[in-house]
Amino acid sequence: MEKYVIHGGQPLHGQVEISGAKNAAVAIIPAALMVRGVCRLENLPEISDTDTLLRIMTFLGARVTMINRSTVELDCTHVQMDTLPSQMWDMTRRIRASYYLIGAMLGRFGRARSTMPGGCNFGVRPIDQHIKGLTALGADVRTSGGFINASAAGGRLKGGSVYLDKVSVGATINIMIAAATAEGRTVIENVAREPHIVDLANFLNSMGADVRGAGTDVIKIRGVKSLHGGTYALIPDQIEAGTFMAAVAAAGGSVKVANVIPKHLDCISTKLREMNVEVEDGDDYVLVRRDGPLHPTNVKTKPYPGFPTDMQPQMTVLLCSAPGVSVMTEGVWNGGRFKYVAELKKMGANIEVDDQSAFIQGVDRLTGATVRACDLRAGAAMVIAGLAAQGVTKVEDVVFIERGYQDIVGKLRALGADIACVDEPEERPAEESAG
Ligand code: EPU
Repeated sequence: MEKYVIHGGQPLHGQVEISGAKNAAVAIIPAALMVRGVCRLENLPEISDTDTLLRIMTFLGARVTMINRSTVELDCTHVQMDTLPSQMWDMTRRIRASYYLIGAMLGRFGRARSTMPGGCNFGVRPIDQHIKGLTALGADVRTSGGFINASAAGGRLKGGSVYLDKVSVGATINIMIAAATAEGRTVIENVAREPHIVDLANFLNSMGADVRGAGTDVIKIRGVKSLHGGTYALIPDQIEAGTFMAAVAAAGGSVKVANVIPKHLDCISTKLREMNVEVEDGDDYVLVRRDGPLHPTNVKTKPYPGFPTDMQPQMTVLLCSAPGVSVMTEGVWNGGRFKYVAELKKMGANIEVDDQSAFIQGVDRLTGATVRACDLRAGAAMVIAGLAAQGVTKVEDVVFIERGYQDIVGKLRALGADIACVDEPEERPAEESAG
């Protein structure tokens, strides 16, 4: 079983290139199912979640051609399947984004059947808002025995109005995809505003859709008859960039985090500055530098443009090394998303979790230990902890990290980190968990 072995204490220096956004890619690949023609997708991250989705698309009958490591051509013209066959269930149950295939198949064929999705285990992850939205478009959606069955009355979805009771990235994306070719106009209110929502809208529009308002809390979609092929370059990954920024802040040093949209990083940069980390915005990069002591602060995660929940574990690690008391409050996931704290305590962290908040008393220095990646972002947080710690840290279950970070080991090594991926026998069985 692969592990990361990290000898902590090396400051990071140099430049890192951020890859394309995972949560945009996992929406846009299924959305390509709506397109009759060739979609050329550029700046696609090379991670196992996109690999899984491309394998599912191939199985459904799409022609998938890798042009280079970050460019793929996806031709779904001849796809006819509206049901995920049993050979695919293991894959659709592994990742969260597989439920976008429901919106896409419903939009294209008027029928869809797949398994319930998987994803990181943050407690209960309901899909009631997806169902509410697809139902507003005239679909009959049923879930039973771990499957989702949906069909559109008369074989084609019809535009409708929906107000999301909870701001949901996934529900916003699923409804946008389905509505792109529905008959008439759809209005979705109280939608998510994350950068990947805007990216999906831009992708759909460049394939001939009419989606307006993405980035605000109301999205209006005028359904078109069909979507055509085209070329689209994905945005850079906000969370990968934030993770590297946190890594520099934790380990010390000075790094140019390149190929980013600094605006998407505002809430992260602001918090880092509060903590005595220098962050300077360029056109498509940020310079991050830390050589003084970290200052404590309080953080509450919120939907965009608030502080991202997907940066919560990485930021908590950083707060562990800030002398004084900091409070991290999880405002998106009700389950709290603090499972990884038990791992961090093995490294000497002083944290008490009460419901949705973690109370962190900064320590002089974390110490190396063997810890596991509880999920994707928690795994990235363990890597950051290892970079900052004294001694050797081994991070197990790295398969979760590789679902969302392209070559994290290679990128950190190029910045001077002492980190290696080694194959060692596993000490205990792993759990399922992803994005
Ligand atoms: N929610 C409902 N009903 C629904 C859908 C969501 O109550 O029908 C609730 C959830 O329980 C949660 C909140 O709404 O409390 C937000 O959930 P959301 O639907 O926004 O999350 P998601 O779409 O399942 C995506 C990302 C997550 C990220 C969240 C929040 C993907 C594939 N996943 O999940 O990313 O944490 O948005 O920003 O886009 C990750 O990348 O590590 C990751 C977990």
